Amino acid sequence: MFAVCATVLLYLTSGSHSAPLSCEELVRPLDQLEPHHLEGRWALVAGSLSHPASLDALKLRDSITMYFLNSSETSTTSYTQINRFGDLCQNLPYNISMKGSTFSFDVGNRFNLTGTFLQTSCPDCMVMRWDVESKRRVSLDLYLISRRRELELKEMEEYKAQLECLNLPPPVMMDPTKELCPEQTSSEPAAAQTQEKTDKQQA
Ligand SMILES: *[C@@H]1O[C@H](CO)[C@@H](O)[C@H](O)[C@H]1NC(C)=O
Ligand SMILES: *[C@@H]1O[C@H](CO)[C@@H](O)[C@H](O)[C@H]1NC(C)=O
Ligand SMILES: *[C@@H]1O[C@H](CO)[C@@H](O)[C@H](O)[C@H]1NC(C)=O
Repeated sequence: MFAVCATVLLYLTSGSHSAPLSCEELVRPLDQLEPHHLEGRWALVAGSLSHPASLDALKLRDSITMYFLNSSETSTTSYTQINRFGDLCQNLPYNISMKGSTFSFDVGNRFNLTGTFLQTSCPDCMVMRWDVESKRRVSLDLYLISRRRELELKEMEEYKAQLECLNLPPPVMMDPTKELCPEQTSSEPAAAQTQEKTDKQQA
């Protein structure tokens, strides 16, 4: 009994010593994105969107994998998002233009999507802010992605504080037990076929 009380007390004491970060600091864009830091596979851990219907749509996905590939010396990066719905994997390839810690999707006028990477203390996470403007929705999204499927409590707390700063609703938490989809190469015909349909869903 005594041991339990002592632990709680210690936790509370140490918690009160670390000054909470201000919203200004919490939603600050990364000063710089390390080259190649973004490359490879990321899993969506949690997401929150200001557009209610899109937030509901996120709940229907069993897992979301994101691949970034810096294919050339240019600032163009290929971004592929793979959504799992049960046994189905939906492949969404895009080109994005990077500039510092911000990027935009190269999709002409179909929709406007500008992204920014925000600072985070989690070493193998990225926090992505998306500002989306399309015929279907105007939305501010904040996605927490990681090389891990599940994060520490304090890492989740930091993300939730970021959501509060941006007045975003509580996040949709992805189920870490649901499998990620395997990577598909964009030369596979399935990718081209789903492209048209999914552009509409994405935006
Ligand atoms: C892409 O690769 C080039 C060459 O290695 C590098 O200069 C650039 O910073 C990279 N871009 C990103 C976004 O990682
Ligand atoms: C990305 O850009 C490359 C080179 O311009 C192009 O071949 C490819 O079709 C583009 N992919 C998408 C999904 O727009
Ligand atoms: C994207 O932005 C451009 C320039 O501001 C605008 O002309 C276009 O209509 C926008 N597209 C959508 C789908 O909102």
